Amino acid sequence: MGDRNFKPFPVLKTERLTLRQLVSGDANEIFALRSDGNVNKYLDRKPSKSIDDAKIFIQTINENIQRNDSIYWAITLNSTDKLIGTICLFDFSDDNLKAEIGYELLPGFQGKGIMQEATSKVIEFGIQHIGLHSIEAYTHFENQSSTKLLEKFNFKKHSVDGNNLMIFKLTSND
Ligand SMILES: CC(C)(COP(=O)(O)OP(=O)(O)OC[C@H]1O[C@@H](n2cnc3c(N)ncnc32)[C@H](O)[C@@H]1OP(=O)(O)O)[C@@H](O)C(=O)NCCC(=O)NCCS
Repeated sequence: MGDRNFKPFPVLKTERLTLRQLVSGDANEIFALRSDGNVNKYLDRKPSKSIDDAKIFIQTINENIQRNDSIYWAITLNSTDKLIGTICLFDFSDDNLKAEIGYELLPGFQGKGIMQEATSKVIEFGIQHIGLHSIEAYTHFENQSSTKLLEKFNFKKHSVDGNNLMIFKLTSND
């Protein structure tokens, strides 16, 4: 049985990055991410329409974390507190052995290995601290950047669902 407890909030650090909790001051960057046509291209979600939408989103995310339902990090460079992307673990199974991962980066920060660095730390956290045995990712079959990222971490393609989504799975003893 895994241990899903996000109190105190688990701030994660890597060579270049700090993964911290979202705060209301991130609303402009969350709006930029969630309204960007390139970021949204392969994501099945309604684009954010306003900063107020982004503020509500941040509040909802933090309520979910408070209930230990899911965990969601703002990705920042160590040199500045500004949000450049997000990464999350959600949809935990009842026994906490399985969860899904999601991630996104503002276009100006893509192609620099930043998500690789963040994903590595989040996988380590999921396996070592929560006790996950497997992590799934749903990604559009044409989303090459995301597919490449998952394959670098040894996620294996399992199936394609009816919405053109590929289901990738990482098993901790693979
Ligand atoms: C998916 C997404 C996060 C991937 O971002 P990314 O920046 O391409 O991912 P990475 O961190 O793995 O960076 C990899 C690229 O950086 C380059 N790079 C530059 N410096 C690097 C470094 N120091 N270390 C590693 N890679 C580096 C690599 O060459 C690599 O490019 P390649 O795979 O073409 O060789 C990004 O495309 C995105 O936000 N997309 C929109 C949202 C989305 O679709 N999310 C997925 C939902 S399932």
